Amino acid sequence: MEEPVIETRGLRKAYGGRPVLDGVDLTVRRGQVLALLGPNGAGKTTTVRILSTLVAPDGGTARVAGFDVRTEAARVRAALSLTGQYAAVDELLTGEENVRLAARLAHVPRRQVRERAAEMLALFDLTDAARRTVRTYSGGMRRRLDLAVSLLSRPQVLVLDEPTTGLDPRSRAALWDVVRSVVAAGGTVLLTTQYLEEADALADRVAVIDRGVVVADGTAAELKAAVGSAHVELALADGRTERLATDGTVGDVRRVLGEVERRGLDVVHWQVRTPTLDDAFLALTGHDAGTADRTPALATTAQEPR
Ligand SMILES: Nc1ncnc2c1ncn2[C@@H]1O[C@H](COP(=O)(O)OP(=O)(O)O)[C@@H](O)[C@H]1O
Ligand SMILES: [Mg+2]
Repeated sequence: MEEPVIETRGLRKAYGGRPVLDGVDLTVRRGQVLALLGPNGAGKTTTVRILSTLVAPDGGTARVAGFDVRTEAARVRAALSLTGQYAAVDELLTGEENVRLAARLAHVPRRQVRERAAEMLALFDLTDAARRTVRTYSGGMRRRLDLAVSLLSRPQVLVLDEPTTGLDPRSRAALWDVVRSVVAAGGTVLLTTQYLEEADALADRVAVIDRGVVVADGTAAELKAAVGSAHVELALADGRTERLATDGTVGDVRRVLGEVERRGLDVVHWQVRTPTLDDAFLALTGHDAGTADRTPALATTAQEPR
């Protein structure tokens, strides 16, 4: 089988004697999107920083596009494009100047710089703001500019660290489209997220990281299936709740409801429940994704009505 585009084995990192990564194994194959899903402080950014050669691991190995992050750092950097959790653009330049500068740094052929810059600014809805200095941009606009800059070189390997945190829903949808188009063009993506629904929507595979350890790795469907199967949940007039197993198909739900009728159950409310990634997270880590010391983003997602 073809060598993975991103591979870490037993990755370790400690800060001040405190382990932050405690043996992280990840594999991302060509054309895949892997979501590294975990709450604040789980070790996502540390993993991403090691992969992009900004921080050296204390132990274990990490390879990107076949190159070792320690001994072949320059080659890793050439293969990979990183978008950080915080926008890395020059405040004093205009949006357009930032993108053109990035294009020249990325060795986009001189004749194509103008066109590529315009294309990326349009993609992230920044055409109207292109001539303004970044100082006047909102947080969401900076984030979009950051994405335009990092996606401009059409990277083979794209690493996105919480790319949609703080983005409005429209920009989030635009980013999801861009990730899909990178993959359609043969690219490989690792993205970190605190949003369960984002991992669900975008990723071929999800690795759940908690306190520096990958506690689960599989498709979103596999993670959910590991937690349990779908069921019809019935709220009964006497206050009891009853759960009846179903495979979730229309025919099978009809069968279950037929059974409910035959048994003469007095139902006030019913719904089909399929396990969500929230349920999976709780089952895998033993703690709620929205525990007090966790971030609001996860807590909000976990509490959204289904
Ligand atoms: N440079 C650093 N010095 C000390 N502690 C750090 C440093 N970077 C990260 N940490 C700690 O490591 C843990 C994991 O951080 P991080 O990888 O940023 O998590 P995440 O991105 O999942 O929120 C946190 O407890 C954080 O405080
Ligand atoms: Mg982070």
